[in-house]
Amino acid sequence: MTQSEQKELVASVAIDTLIRQGKIFSGMKIGLGTGSTAYPAVRHLAGRIADGTVKDIKAVVTSFGTQNLCEELDIPVFSMNDKTIGGHLDLAIDGADEVDPLNHVIKGGGAALLREKIVAYNSTQFVIVADSTKIVDSLGTGFALPVEIIGEARVPVVAALNALGAECVLREGVRKCGPVITDNGNQLLDIKWKTPVDPAEMEDKVNGIVGVVENGFFTKNRPIVFTIDKEGNVIER
Ligand code: A5P
Repeated sequence: MTQSEQKELVASVAIDTLIRQGKIFSGMKIGLGTGSTAYPAVRHLAGRIADGTVKDIKAVVTSFGTQNLCEELDIPVFSMNDKTIGGHLDLAIDGADEVDPLNHVIKGGGAALLREKIVAYNSTQFVIVADSTKIVDSLGTGFALPVEIIGEARVPVVAALNALGAECVLREGVRKCGPVITDNGNQLLDIKWKTPVDPAEMEDKVNGIVGVVENGFFTKNRPIVFTIDKEGNVIER
């Protein structure tokens, strides 16, 4: 199975399983993630709405990309701040860049980590859909941790991250001169350690640096993870 076939499979099985388990239900408030695994999940959910399996779904999106997809698929989108949503969701579903054995996660490869974390940490249930390449033994040394920063604070933030033992690279735009600008108007550093770190400890330490807006370690609302095992079956862990 190719990686993209895995993404399609895990996304569709996750949505159907969550419906069967009653975790996706009519009238619910759902956070919708960003990326090449979250989007098939959003498409599959739209199919279940269209065939009447679930009704009156209220979505909060995590990026302009997901907003556009919901517009295309006729999924009604609300702000986290709307009275209908009231700042809390029933469930958030999203992809991941890396998942460790404790289901701690790195996210933000698509630069949407800030709104993804707002949605994930304000949901009763957080769900990750991930192909098998995303499952790792430890975080921090493989996929670089995305850190959203205020551009004006770049130099002192890099110095503080270096002091935590991390090497930093400013994420550059593709077909756009200069740095990537996030949906929130900020810049991104991709940072790596030479040896594995404690993600729960580092999530707080990195966020404690003045000028850091958010980082891509997600350790505080432990997700259910749907992924693919060696035999090509979808598993939930
Ligand atoms: C978006 O910023 C990310 O957090 C994505 O959810 C993550 O990078 C996984 O993306 P893919 O599903 O495209 O690999």
